[in-house]
Order: sequence, then structure tokens, then C-alpha cells
Amino acid sequence: MSKQVILTGLRANNDLHIGNYLGALLPLVDMAKTKSSEYQVNIFVPDLHSFTTPIDHSKLQEQIIQNLRVFAAAGLPLDNENVHIYRQSYIPAHSELTIILNSFTGFGQMLRMTQFKDKSGIANETSTEGAIIKRIDSAKSHEDTTVGLFDYPVLMAADILLYNASYVPVGDDQSQHLEFTRDIAERMNNRFGELFVVPKAVKEQHAFFGKDQGLRIKDLQDPTKKMSKSDESEKGIIFMSDAPDEAKKKIMSAATDSIAKVVYDPENQPGIANLLQIHALLKGQSVEESAKEFAGQTQYGEFKAAVAEVVATFLTDFQNNLESVNDDQLRTKLEASEKAMNLAANQTLQKVQKAVGLRG
Ligand code: ADP
Ligand code: TRP
Repeated sequence: MSKQVILTGLRANNDLHIGNYLGALLPLVDMAKTKSSEYQVNIFVPDLHSFTTPIDHSKLQEQIIQNLRVFAAAGLPLDNENVHIYRQSYIPAHSELTIILNSFTGFGQMLRMTQFKDKSGIANETSTEGAIIKRIDSAKSHEDTTVGLFDYPVLMAADILLYNASYVPVGDDQSQHLEFTRDIAERMNNRFGELFVVPKAVKEQHAFFGKDQGLRIKDLQDPTKKMSKSDESEKGIIFMSDAPDEAKKKIMSAATDSIAKVVYDPENQPGIANLLQIHALLKGQSVEESAKEFAGQTQYGEFKAAVAEVVATFLTDFQNNLESVNDDQLRTKLEASEKAMNLAANQTLQKVQKAVGLRG
């Protein structure tokens, strides 16, 4: 029997920050390293998803390749034959399956997707579909609320179902899309026979991938909200491309509190807890172990300097790794994966095409 598939997509984005790295990339690379003897691991760049909201198209090509370099620099084992990296748009079956699944997806179900509501600016709209359409029509940014954004979850379902993936590590913001994927897979299976492997439910995903899945690194200036590239101020964000000295300054000016104790208490000391979290993850230890290192300190200066040092060392190493990524090796791997993935995806697509009557 073939191996179970673990699959995830990371959107192409030049401005990765340490939150993306610690919350998404690092767990992914660790997972690929530890699970690839037992599972097939698919990691792809969802390039067709990248302009569901407006972008600078002249930069996309470079960002896609840069993203793949970042995987390599973070230690993704490219020489492992059970690990596949690919670009979504290089496997046309993603687009074809999306078009088919569209006709089995309710308009109302898509309207309820929270990411669509958030990104289209129709946040938390709970009224009837008619009212929402009126809101879309009257929204200032209405050209930006595209059918592509609306259809985002269906393309994501196709990404997952084409490869019969069981496990899909995604953040909480994507759980609803995963539930939708399960739903459409089940409905198609009930109607047409066993077409798809239904991915595991979110709860089982969490159990499988462990606690890090819900991890949220917080903004350094406002530790009550998550570090996010969509923030206006860059002072609270450590970008992976930040000069190590610049990053040190950001850590030194991170918001803390006046409690004057270094303990891990996210509720009462969110700033300190966040710095401890960053310190612990970069050193590969638990937050308790990090807290122990600073136990008894009553001023935050020394603690911050220690965190700043760990962050600067990490950035220096990462940026060196990125510089020395072997582009030829990367391209060879990419092309081999894309060839293999086209074969795999087309098998599923053909099954679906047959089931819905497009093929004899
Ligand atoms: P951003 O909020 O910066 O736009 P994205 O939404 O593009 O980030 O998220 C990309 C990946 O990084 C997702 O898997 C998401 O769960 C993860 N991620 C984003 N921000 C953080 C954070 N502050 N801490 C941990 N993980 C994060
Ligand atoms: N929607 C995901 C995100 O924004 C990226 C993504 C696209 C994805 N297709 C996927 C993740 C399939 C997992 C599986 O982070």
C-alpha cells in the first residue's frame, strides 16, 4: 500500500517574519524530517492563490523562487525521495479539479467562509446573502473583492484532494477551509463512489502534529496581537531579512510590563511570555527551561539582551544558509517533483472526470 500523504502549501511571500518561521516553516521542516520515512510529504507553493488579493505581479516570479529557497535554507531535506516540492500552477490538474468542484459547491457555503469575509472587507456580516451582495456592490474596494478570492477554498480543496492527503498542517485561520475540503470530499464520495481520501478532522490534525500548530508569536510592540506582515508598523515585527543588529534593537525596545519578574505567564505578562517563547523555540527548548535561565532577574534589560543575542545569531545563520542554497539542486528537485506530482494528480483528476461523465 502506498504511504499516507501529509500536504501543505505556504504562500509565496518575500517578507516572511519570525512568526511565520517559528509557527509555520520550522514545524513543517521538523515534520518533514521526522515523518518522511513513514509518510509522503508534499510541500508546495500555492502560486495561483497568491493573487486572490492584489499583488505586484512583476515580483511574483522572484518571490516564488525565493520562497522555495527559504524552504531549503530552513533545512527541508531536498534529497529525501518522500519529500516533494512543487508549484501549484505547474500541475494543471489543480485548476481543472477546481472548475469541476465549483459546480458542487454552494454559493452560500462560500459566503460563510471567514477568510473571505475578512479579506473582502465584509467582516462579520451575518445577514442574508442578498444583503451581503448589496454590501459587496457598494464597497469601495469592490474590484479587489474578486471571484478568485471567493473561490479560494475550492482551489485549496483541489490542492488537498488531488493527492489523497490525510494530514494537512494549517493554522487556525485555515481550519474552516479544511472542514470545507472534508465536506466536499464526503459529498462527492457519497454521490459518485469513493473518489477521494477524506482528510482527517481538525482535532485529529492537532493530535497528529502536536501543540505547535496553534502557536502564535506576538507583535513586539503590542503583544496582545499576533505578529503579522499586514501591520503598518514594522517595529513590532522581526523579518527574516532584517539585519541582525536591527533585529536586536527591535527586541530591546519590545513592550514589557512593570511586574519585574521573568516567568511564563501569557495572561498577565504577554510581552515577557512572547520573548520567552521566541527564545525557547530558537534554542530548541521548552519555555520553562528558558524561564529557568532568567529566574530571579528583576530587571528586563539583561533578559532582553539575551533574547536579542539569540535572535541575532539565528538570523545570521539563516541568512548565511539562504545565501548558500544551491539553486541547481533546488531546480532539479522541483522539476522531478513536478513530474511525479503531475502523474499522481492526473490519476485523481481522471477518476473524477469519469465519475461526472466527462470521460468514457
Ligand atoms: P501574516 O499574518 O504575516 O500575513 P500569513 O497569514 O501569510 O501571515 O501566514 C503564513 C503562515 O504563518 C501560516 O501558516 C500562519 O499560521 C503562520 N503565522 C503567521 N503569523 C504567525 C505568528 N505570528 N506566529 C506563528 N505563526 C504565524
Ligand atoms: N490557504 C493556505 C494559507 O493561506 C495556503 C494553502 C493553499 C494551503 N492551498 C493549501 C495550505 C492546501 C494547505 C493545503 O496559509
